[in-house]
Amino acid sequence: MKTKTLNDLFLENLKDIYYAERKILKALPKMARGAQSEELKEAFSTHAEETQVQIERLQQVFEIIGKRAVGKTCPAIEGIIEEGEEVLDTFKGSAAIDAGLVAAAQAVEHYEMARYGTLKAWAEVLGMDEVVKLLDQTLEEEMSTDERLTALADSSVNATALEAA
Ligand SMILES: [Fe+2]
Ligand SMILES: [Fe+2]
Repeated sequence: MKTKTLNDLFLENLKDIYYAERKILKALPKMARGAQSEELKEAFSTHAEETQVQIERLQQVFEIIGKRAVGKTCPAIEGIIEEGEEVLDTFKGSAAIDAGLVAAAQAVEHYEMARYGTLKAWAEVLGMDEVVKLLDQTLEEEMSTDERLTALADSSVNATALEAA
């Protein structure tokens, strides 16, 4: 068997996040529909649009490295998204639902930040400058989404959840 390289690791993880992003793209509109506050709906909808662009960036990365854009089943993101769906089911009609949705969404963002951070670092050492730029743009979007969710939780969502307790 041929020895596996850092390039192989990069490709495996690229397929993983490509699969994950497409799952996330499907989940975000459901979360937007389930959210109570207009601001949270808006945050999820905006991020769904960004996610579409992120998927296109990943397709560009596949193209640059000369590989076909294919996803690889990622059980981690499936589990995280499933938790979000549980919140939607279990807390339907509860004032605490937005707090639960923010928590679920932040788990998604942190997963993505971990993946993109690693891929970017590997692309750097592999000398793939164009790829680094693309991955960094997405990483920045994931980080600002995470910050936006934290701000929403702190400014209104958690207080709303508490009031209804
Ligand atoms: Fe993403
Ligand atoms: Fe994201």
